[in-house]
Amino acid sequence: MTASGTATVRAHANIALAKYWGKADVVKNLPAVPSLSLTLDGMRTTTRVTFDPGLSADELELGGAPQLGKPLARATKLLNEVRALAGVSTFARIHSHNDFPTASGLASSASGFAALALAAVSALELPLSRDRVSALARAASASAARSLYGGYVELGASAESAARVAPPEHWPLCMLVAVTSEAAKDTGSTDGMQHTARTSPYYSSWVSDAPRLFAEVKAAVLAKDFERLAVAAEQSALAMHASMLAASPALIYFRPATLAVIEAVRAARRSGTPACFTIDAGPHVKVLVEPASAESLRRALSGVEGVLRVLESAPGPDAARVSAQLPELDP
Ligand code: DP6
Repeated sequence: MTASGTATVRAHANIALAKYWGKADVVKNLPAVPSLSLTLDGMRTTTRVTFDPGLSADELELGGAPQLGKPLARATKLLNEVRALAGVSTFARIHSHNDFPTASGLASSASGFAALALAAVSALELPLSRDRVSALARAASASAARSLYGGYVELGASAESAARVAPPEHWPLCMLVAVTSEAAKDTGSTDGMQHTARTSPYYSSWVSDAPRLFAEVKAAVLAKDFERLAVAAEQSALAMHASMLAASPALIYFRPATLAVIEAVRAARRSGTPACFTIDAGPHVKVLVEPASAESLRRALSGVEGVLRVLESAPGPDAARVSAQLPELDP
């Protein structure tokens, strides 16, 4: 059957406070460990999907540039799932725009696949629950399951879909992102975690301790206990990186500026500022801070050598449909 339809969706990036790294099932893309993230209002992907019977293949444009190879293949795989559910064979045109650097450890795949899943389902008017859309996004990129929801969100070990832990207003913390490079990273998360699982003697320790760190992070978020959150979130990020560092060859995402920012955050906390850091598969440092201290910390981080700029975000909302005419997609 052919179908036509279009929908535009905005999804927000999320940053894990308890990290996902490793797969319980590579084919189904089920996570080996539970994770918990904060969705960010200031980092967004806007995606329009148009199913068009006139197309002979799917087309993907990211930030105005046509994409082929891996990015297009990953998008097509997700669209194939949606087409199978709808019983249609029509190809689609995808226009997507990130308002932050892509593929450099700034969670662009999370917001990207969340937006794509919801836009494709909406364009075909499939009556799926948010939970089902989250599962579609998770199959494409597990962290994307979490970007369907605003606020604090969890994805259990081997879970099909993410679930809300608390809404954005539960704890309006501020996330500062110290950007240390505009370049795309060498090793993407999918390859990086497979490499770690295959070659790192620390991978099994990471997988066995991650549930404890997740439980700590979740309890701290629910109790709004900053110090408890800081200790557990930093340990989750560093334990994940320790497993990567022990891989062969080592997977080192840190740059000198990454360590310099970590030092600055530790110094700030020692002197009483409620702040903690986390780092994903890239050189940037994400810093969680109580809003009252955000401006002074932002100034301090901007002055750290190697920091290009500092983005600031509050907790963000659910992924949602938006009006079709948007300046970022139709300049
Ligand atoms: C370090 O979700 O990008 O950001 O499921 O293979 O697409 P795939 O991996 P992805 O991994 C994200 C890893 C992380 C930690 C996290 O977001 O939990």
